[in-house]
Amino acid sequence: MNKNLLFLTLLIFFRISDANDIKTFTIIQNCNVCHTEKYKKSSSIKSLKTLEKEYFLTKMYEYKKENKNGVMNRILDPINVLDIIEMADYLYGE
Ligand code: HEC
Repeated sequence: MNKNLLFLTLLIFFRISDANDIKTFTIIQNCNVCHTEKYKKSSSIKSLKTLEKEYFLTKMYEYKKENKNGVMNRILDPINVLDIIEMADYLYGE
């Protein structure tokens, strides 16, 4: 991890006081490995922030429910519905 990124991460962590927010933030950090905000090389994997809240929730419930063993379906295995709602609030506001 480069120094700037580490600094930014620490800064963000200390500004978030609620333990739940930290957990949500950590989950989203993992999502952003693929749904990157910086590089727009791939058009199929969009930055999460560019989506609408309703759309995000609908897609996430779909991925959670489906039995297709796709990328998102596997990623959502340890993530429950409450986590999904918290992610949506975190990303798009309550
Ligand atoms: C390994 C890479 C990878 C990671 C990590 C990842 N995704 Fe995805 N995501 C994808 C791919 C690929 C697609 C599009 C293909 C599909 O629909 O299965 C996608 C699609 C989506 C979509 C639908 C986007 C659209 O434009 O329709 C949402 C919402 C989403 N992901 C949310 C998340 C969230 C939230 C996380 C973290 C919990 C996450 N993803 C982690 C690869 C990833």
